Amino acid sequence: MFLRNHWYVAARSEELGRSLLARRILNEPVLLYRTGAGEAVAIEDRCCHRNVPLSIGKLVNDDVQCGYHGLVFDRAGRCISMPGQEKIPAAARIKSFPLIERWQMVWIWMGDPALADEARLPDFSIIDREGWAAVGARVDVKANYLYGVDNLLDLSHLSYVHGRTIGTLDVARHAVTTTRQGDTVKVTRWMHDVPPPPTFVKLGGFDSNIDRWQIATAAPPCYVWLEVGGAKVGTGAMEGNRSQGIERWNLNVVTPETDKTAHLFWTEVRNFKIDDPDTTQLLKAQIDATLEEDAEVLAAQQLTMDLLPHAKTVDIAFDAGSVAFRRTIDRMLREETAAQPDRSH
Ligand code: FES
Ligand SMILES: [Fe+2]
Repeated sequence: MFLRNHWYVAARSEELGRSLLARRILNEPVLLYRTGAGEAVAIEDRCCHRNVPLSIGKLVNDDVQCGYHGLVFDRAGRCISMPGQEKIPAAARIKSFPLIERWQMVWIWMGDPALADEARLPDFSIIDREGWAAVGARVDVKANYLYGVDNLLDLSHLSYVHGRTIGTLDVARHAVTTTRQGDTVKVTRWMHDVPPPPTFVKLGGFDSNIDRWQIATAAPPCYVWLEVGGAKVGTGAMEGNRSQGIERWNLNVVTPETDKTAHLFWTEVRNFKIDDPDTTQLLKAQIDATLEEDAEVLAAQQLTMDLLPHAKTVDIAFDAGSVAFRRTIDRMLREETAAQPDRSH
């Protein structure tokens, strides 16, 4: 079961064009495309005649023609043409989903369209902020989205999963503080006077120890902000002066695809070498490699969960953030179901 009345990322902007993109989101088949004027559209990927996916049909101007018997649907999901008959029954329609295109991503509202509210987008505005540069991509995760959120909230795994890129043993050696504010969970780790990991050396040119920070914030349903960086030892980074180092924000949306798979949309924002395409490429390659390492672990985890769904697991100190987050999600699911029993799927 998923929270429905929230914005999820359906695609990165560059994924949408004048062709049909089929994507499953929250277990539902969704069809995405752009109109001739460039506007993003999301309708159900299902013809209401015989349930054939519309994605095997074709775009006809701004509408979609089913590839089986030729019914045509407009961007609002209304059937506007039926071969061989003039009168189109009012019931001949499919869902269309509210969309907002922002921050290089296409956000979709999977719940009650009447409740879709732009004000409920998470604050990813740093992506557009002057003086910062952004790069992002999508990664397929073969695991439940909450395992993806766990992974981002508990960065102690860097020491074991990402030794080649961003991990050093120092990460898991440093305790975290976990705080909650409303439905948001924040996990903070400061590492003083530690060696910089390989990518920090490459990106920040550090030749001695650094003060390093990792601040992970998660908000329902599946948004995770990672604020990470490092600065020369003792230059006041912890007190807020980060001018002697590098700052990175890694913004994530782990959109559930099915119960056991997810689309991870990440955007990396930085305030150094912002006009340097080599740095952008280096970062993208590093994050792709890092997330591949994560995806491998998460897929293996899901597989074991499938084999042994009732096997007991033990929480450790680093899990405080994920445990709190899951509790919040469970409560919100109960609330959403109670508020709209007829709309839950
Ligand atoms: S299934 Fe789409 S037109 Fe028949
Ligand atoms: Fe990771």
